[in-house]
Amino acid sequence: MKFSLDATPVCENPTDCLVVAISEDAPLGPAAAAVDEACAGLVTKLRDSGDIETGIGKCTLLHEPHGIAAQRLLLVGLGKQAKLDLPRFDRACLAAGKFLRDHPVTACHVCLHDHAFDGVTAAGRLRQAALAMHRSNYLYTVTKPRKESRPAPLKTASFQDGDGLQPAIDQAAALAAGFETAKLLGDLPPNICNPAYLAQEAANIAAQDDRVTLSVLEESEMATLGMDALLGVSRGSANNARLIVLEYRGADAQAKPVVLIGKGVTFDSGGLSLKSGENMMQMKYDMCGAAGVLGSFVACIRLGLPLNVVCIVAAVENMPDGDAYRPGDVLTSMSGKSIEVLNTDAEGRLALCDAITYSERFEPDCIIDVATLTGACVVALGHHASGLMSNDDSLADQLLAAGNAIVDRAWRLPLWEEYQSQLDTPFADMKNVGGMPAGVLTAGCFLARFADKQRWAHIDIAGSAWKWGGNEGATGRPVGLLTQFLIDRAG
Ligand code: BES
Ligand code: MN
Ligand code: ZN
Repeated sequence: MKFSLDATPVCENPTDCLVVAISEDAPLGPAAAAVDEACAGLVTKLRDSGDIETGIGKCTLLHEPHGIAAQRLLLVGLGKQAKLDLPRFDRACLAAGKFLRDHPVTACHVCLHDHAFDGVTAAGRLRQAALAMHRSNYLYTVTKPRKESRPAPLKTASFQDGDGLQPAIDQAAALAAGFETAKLLGDLPPNICNPAYLAQEAANIAAQDDRVTLSVLEESEMATLGMDALLGVSRGSANNARLIVLEYRGADAQAKPVVLIGKGVTFDSGGLSLKSGENMMQMKYDMCGAAGVLGSFVACIRLGLPLNVVCIVAAVENMPDGDAYRPGDVLTSMSGKSIEVLNTDAEGRLALCDAITYSERFEPDCIIDVATLTGACVVALGHHASGLMSNDDSLADQLLAAGNAIVDRAWRLPLWEEYQSQLDTPFADMKNVGGMPAGVLTAGCFLARFADKQRWAHIDIAGSAWKWGGNEGATGRPVGLLTQFLIDRAG
């Protein structure tokens, strides 16, 4: 989808569809007021008569209202003004985007950001609205082409221009590219998107920009480095693992990089600790951490942020076969720490721990790993918040703030050392499972043991990375949170 800014007076814009906000109780915003005046009080009459709904995201479409140049007018409800905040605004914008997707409109002019509310700038509202238009118009078409009968998707969206809005539209475009990358990778089936495919995707990303270099480690090179935890996971699979390393140089060589690490388990059968059919069905999404860091990397290079960023993907498939690792096996990780594998389905932490140790060579400013790591995180936080754990309060605060600023929210969970003892075993430095209590935290505690020398945060996206049920698919999260974090650091 193409974004642009357009300064044409709202009522003179000959767009297919003019998109205007209307709150339940506040005075009309500039665009709504202009339309109201040009259309003999149409907007006020519709609202005050109670004939239309103005709750969050409620949409009313009118055809060729007399007095304005647009072919259609879409009124988008913002609910009660006193309750309006960025998450509600985001919901309204997503609903408007869905409405347009389901109607034969291919171009629109959006004024939603002209409706002010506390705590968010016009630029912030514009960025959210543009990103929402893009996100709600995404359609997966690789293995199921778009039906001819479906309304054509939105191809272009212009936004009412105003002071200093260009950076917001540029950020929205970069974020949109990042979300698209992450959603597509997440949605691809596991017989297409395997570790080699992720490596090829990284090569495509690297080819877009001179400041990016790529190295891909094969299993033999990982063996030389002693990555037996990651390689243990891979042993039962016919698809060889890859450690994918993208480096972006946007700042001086001395500037310490931000390292992003993604769990790229392209399919998680559970291994010999085989999942049930029900629990295995959605395990193509187990590489959404990788998709999220790759998408954020794409957004970062699009914006040309003055930072150094390293993106590492632990790409591996977890399968059972005669050579698969077993419950009871003891593996020695690259760090030298030994791990008793008691459940081969707790594979993400095994792949990530070696990637964390590998990242030490970059002397990072901080490390952030992203993973669909635990079902327990879904139980704890559901689908709205990602789980954030960190050994550094300021890093955690920055990540939480970034998520709030772009409505890609995370919630911090405690990594108190008391939980660490759940990983004790007589047979190795640690075991890879901590039992039923606080499963999301014992997974975090496991990773923390490999990041003790670093400023480190872990984001569990098991609940937030994809939508379940009817309208299922990857969400692209946490591309918003991570990209905002990088933008904040660069600024
Ligand atoms: N990929 C799963 C976690 C997961 C489960 C993500 C459901 C999204 C939805 C992970 O590899 C896993 O299997 N974790 C186990 C850990 C357990 C064996 C300690 C889990 O959560 O059950
Ligand atoms: Mn698993
Ligand atoms: Zn997994």
